[in-house]
Amino acid sequence: MSLTEFSAGAPLAPRGVSLPKVTVPALGEMKRQGKPISALTAYDYATARLVDEAGIDLILVGDSLAMVVLGHENTLAVTVDEMLHHTRAVRRGARRALVVADMPFGSYHGTIGEGVANAVRFLKEAGAEAVKIEGPRVEFVRALVEAEIPVVGHLGLTPQSVHRMGGYRVQARNIDAVLQLQADAFALATAGAGAIVLEGIPREVAAAITAAIPIPTIGIGAGPDCDGQILVFHDLVNLTFAPPAKFVRRYGDASALFRSAVEHYREDVEHHAFPSDAESYHLPESARRLFAIDPDGAGARDNADAVVNRDAREEMNEEMNQA
Ligand code: KIV
Repeated sequence: MSLTEFSAGAPLAPRGVSLPKVTVPALGEMKRQGKPISALTAYDYATARLVDEAGIDLILVGDSLAMVVLGHENTLAVTVDEMLHHTRAVRRGARRALVVADMPFGSYHGTIGEGVANAVRFLKEAGAEAVKIEGPRVEFVRALVEAEIPVVGHLGLTPQSVHRMGGYRVQARNIDAVLQLQADAFALATAGAGAIVLEGIPREVAAAITAAIPIPTIGIGAGPDCDGQILVFHDLVNLTFAPPAKFVRRYGDASALFRSAVEHYREDVEHHAFPSDAESYHLPESARRLFAIDPDGAGARDNADAVVNRDAREEMNEEMNQA
C-alpha cells in the first residue's frame, strides 16, 4: 500500500508514534489488493477522534450534517462556510484517516472556475485532503484534478438532487438508467476521480460498476459488493430521531445512552445528590473552622457569620497562600 507518514503536531496519538496515513492513492491500492475500505461521516472533533482511533480509513465531512447536526429538512441549506467550520474541527481530530469534505449544494453548480475556487478553500482553509461532489460532472472533476485537488464522485441517489428526483428514491431501476449510471461512473474514473460513492442503487448494478472501473467504489445502500462501505455516523449510533433506512445497521444506541445520562444528572441535581463533597474543592483543613460546613450533609452551606474575626481571616489567607 502506498502510505505516507503523518507528521501533524496535534497530540492525538502517543507522542513520537507516527501513523501510516491513508491517502487517495492508498484507497486505489486497497481496491487492487481486495482490502475493504471502511468509511464513516464525522462532523466534529470528538467524533472524528473516535472514528479515526477506531481505524476507519476515510472520514467524510458530509453535507448530511445539514440534517443530522443542524436540523434542516434536507442537505441543500448548508453553506460553504458552515462546511469549512466542521471540516476544520474534523481535521483536528483525525490523524490516520483520509479526510474528505463534501462540497455543498450551489458551491460547484455555477462556473467551473467558481467551483475550483470553492474546492481550494476546503484544502487551504480547512485541511481537507479531498473533496466530494455529486453527479456526473466530468469537466469539473477534470478541472479539480488539474488543480491538484483529489476528488471523490457520488452517483446514484444524490441527495442534492432531491427535488429533481422527487424524493429520496432508489435509482438505476431500469436498463436505460443502469447503462447511464455505468457510463457516468466510467467517465468520472477516466476524468481522474479517486473513488466514487454509490448510493441507493440495486446491489447488482453496484457490483457490475465495481468490477468494471479501476477506482474504488464506496457503497451506501448499494449492497455488499462495493470496494468499501460508508454510513452516516448518526445512523450508526441511533442519533437521527427517525426510523432508519433499509440499508442502515445500528451498531449502538447513543440516543438511549445520552438520554439516560442526562435524565440521571437532572434527577441528581434536583435531589442535591450532585455534586458530592468528594467532587468539590476545599479550603485547607485549618481554614475550614471559619465556615460552618457539614461536609456530610446534602445541603452544606457557608455560614457568613462565621467569618467575623479579622485576625483569623489573615491567618487563613496566609495558610492558603502557602498551600
Ligand atoms: O453527506 C453524506 O453524508 C454523504 C454520504 C451519505 C455518502 O454524502
